[in-house]
Amino acid sequence: MKRVVVAVTGASGQIYAKSIIDKLAKLSESGEVDFEVIFSIPAKGVWKEETGLDVPKSDECSYIVNNYDFGNRNASGSNCSDSMIIIPCSMGTIGRLAAGTSDTLILRAADVMLKERKKLIIVPRESPFSLIHLRNMTTLTEAGAIIAPASPGFYQKPAGLEQMVDIFTDKILDIAGVDSIKKRDRWGD
Ligand SMILES: Cc1cc2nc3c(=O)[nH]c(=O)nc-3n(C[C@H](O)[C@H](O)[C@H](O)COP(=O)(O)O)c2cc1C
Repeated sequence: MKRVVVAVTGASGQIYAKSIIDKLAKLSESGEVDFEVIFSIPAKGVWKEETGLDVPKSDECSYIVNNYDFGNRNASGSNCSDSMIIIPCSMGTIGRLAAGTSDTLILRAADVMLKERKKLIIVPRESPFSLIHLRNMTTLTEAGAIIAPASPGFYQKPAGLEQMVDIFTDKILDIAGVDSIKKRDRWGD
């Protein structure tokens, strides 16, 4: 069974995180994936502001992991996930990750993915980018991460925001190797 860890940081675009979490929760119910979710502290505020929902709590959702739980399995290269998705990813997290600080579980788990040569998918959200942002993203790309900005294609003619998000998060899960996610019409098929 594919194991995925999702990190939610304090950038705008929490609707993407909600979509990914909802899809993985459904797939885990049918035993198709095993997943965990880690929120940074700033993410909790932005999630509430943008989705209007309470942040899922660990006593209600078994997949929620504390961002300071360094005893969590994702903190170790001997038991890391098959892939990790940071969605949305703030410029702060990108900077700290590029510097290798590893001072939260999100940063440690992402650092582990890089050192173990596993798939790390980063969905940055900022506009415009500074040279520092671009350099940090280059560093992470050189280290093996996949930078996958939320810049949806329009050729699928999404009917609205929800469909646009749905198409984009399917693509991210596809990159993460979650095979059971339905394949959209691919260009040229
Ligand atoms: C409503 C709101 C929206 C934000 N949007 C962004 C954003 O799109 N990109 C970004 O890099 N930071 C954004 N920030 C700032 C980050 O939350 C802040 O830099 C924080 O320290 C990031 O910490 P984290 O990476 O640990 O989650 C936003 C903050 C707030 C309150």
